[in-house]
Formats: sequence, C-alpha cells, structure tokens
Amino acid sequence: MIKVQIPATSANIGSGFDSLGLAVTIYNSIELEESDHLTIQTADDTQIPLDESNLVYKSVKYIYDLCGRSFKGMKIRQTNQIPIARGLGSSSACIVGGIVGANHLLGEPLCQQELVNIAATMEGHPDNAAPALLGGLVTAVLEKGKVYYVKQAIAQDLRFVAIVPNFPLETSFARQALPRDVSHKDAVFNLSRSALMSVSLYSGNYSNLKIACDDRLHQPYRLSLINGAHEVFDLAYQHGAYAAYISGSGSTLMAIVSAEKKDFARQIREGCDRLGLEQWKIHDLSVTNVGARVLEE
Ligand code: HSE
Repeated sequence: MIKVQIPATSANIGSGFDSLGLAVTIYNSIELEESDHLTIQTADDTQIPLDESNLVYKSVKYIYDLCGRSFKGMKIRQTNQIPIARGLGSSSACIVGGIVGANHLLGEPLCQQELVNIAATMEGHPDNAAPALLGGLVTAVLEKGKVYYVKQAIAQDLRFVAIVPNFPLETSFARQALPRDVSHKDAVFNLSRSALMSVSLYSGNYSNLKIACDDRLHQPYRLSLINGAHEVFDLAYQHGAYAAYISGSGSTLMAIVSAEKKDFARQIREGCDRLGLEQWKIHDLSVTNVGARVLEE
C-alpha cells in the first residue's frame, strides 16, 4: 500500500487565465494497493464515485495502460479535504494523485515532465495540474500535449485566505460564461498583468498584486455567478489584503495578505457573518512549495 498526498491549488491568480497557479496547504490523500479487483472507498463523508467513473481510478488505469502493464484492479481509499467544485483544484488532485501513485507502483517509468504533460492534458489546462504536481507558483503553457513551465518557490511571508462559498461552481459551467473573442486591448490588459503577477509574487513586490490580479478575460463574466463576491472583495481590501481574486473558475474567493496580518482570517469570518454568509468557510492557508508526493509505502 502506498499513500500519496496532493495539495490544493489556486489557478489563474486573477489575470493569468489558464496559465498561472499555485499550490496551497490543504491536502487530499490517496491510498493505493494493487488488487485483483477494483475497490474504491472514501475515508471521510465526502461523496465520490465508487465505480469506474472515479477520476483517481481513471488516472491510475491510464498510466498502467500507457506503460503497457497489466491492470487487474486496485484498492483505492481517498481522503478529500479539498472542497469539491470550489475552484481549489479538487479534480486535478485526483488526476495528479492517480498518476503519481500509479507511476510509483510501477517503479517510476515516467519522468516528471511526462507526468506534467499527462496531468495537464487530462485536465485540459495546466494551471491547477502543474502546481498540484510540482508545488509552488507555476507559470505554464500547454502546447500540443507538452507543458512548458517554470516553477518558482514562493516566500512564506504571505497568507492565502480562501473564502469558500456554500455552493459549487463546475469549471465547465463557469467556462460557458466566457466570451468567444476578446479585444486586442483586453488581451494586452491581461498579458501585462499576468506577467506582473508571476514576477511580483516571486520577487516579493507585493504592492503590485492588486493591479496584477485584475483581469478582463474571466472574472468580470463570472462574478455574477458568485452572489456575495463583490462584498467579500470589498471586505478583503478594507482589511488590508494585497489582492483578492476568484480562485480558478470559482466559487472560492482568494485573498492574498501579509503573514503579519494575524487577525485577517478572523476579520473576514466576522465580516462574512455580518453579510449573512455564515455558511461560507474560511481557510487560512499558505503556499506550499512541495507538490504531490508519496508519503508511505
Ligand atoms: N483556468 C480554469 C478556468 C480553471 O478558469 O476555467 C482551472 O484550470
């Protein structure tokens, strides 16, 4: 039996649509053991598919097939701490956990570049899959099945406070809200900011983050899908956040704040309660520079 731990991820970081993402400190874990039949269990009360539609199973099986190894079955046990369909990379965690675990069980036939390529291709974009696998802040391009990326380790002087609504938002649905075409002006607006986001986070120029997370490619179209988002963004800035943005395709809203602001998460909790958002959850997180890893044999 092996156990794989995979971090949650926050993709886009505002302006870096489908290209920027970072790993944060909530984790799923997946236990895997070869078997002559398929058994899928959940170690908590999270509802997950227990048949062949399970994403961990599909990812494990994909790797066995790709490597030409016979697959009779698998015991899979999942612990899901990453909220599902909330823009924190829960599906990437399943894919990455499945392929990293399968690769380990098979004796590591695939290198990290191959794993990144497979995970991003299965997910459709690299901005959650790559940081889930690699940790840190990842800037990535998926081109013809290959991911071109740079992973940067981020300093621990920031907190990422995830404000998680009590309703899901499926990425496929949130992508339908986006326009087919954008203007040249809006393209320039975003590409300049996403470049600024990546280097500002890495170099510690945090005063740039508010401008850098602004975007015209997805957030303006998705805000109306998240009732309360405007008020929560205002709240985050009132309490001194460097930046606030829709995490991935939502529904989570992420605030980036100095680690010195020790009261921030509590202030957001109280503010959400005042706004009638008592059922929203607050997770006070940091970036993890370590991606998916095998913990136990
Ligand atoms: N970048 C994706 C989107 C979500 O915003 O639709 C994460 O992969």
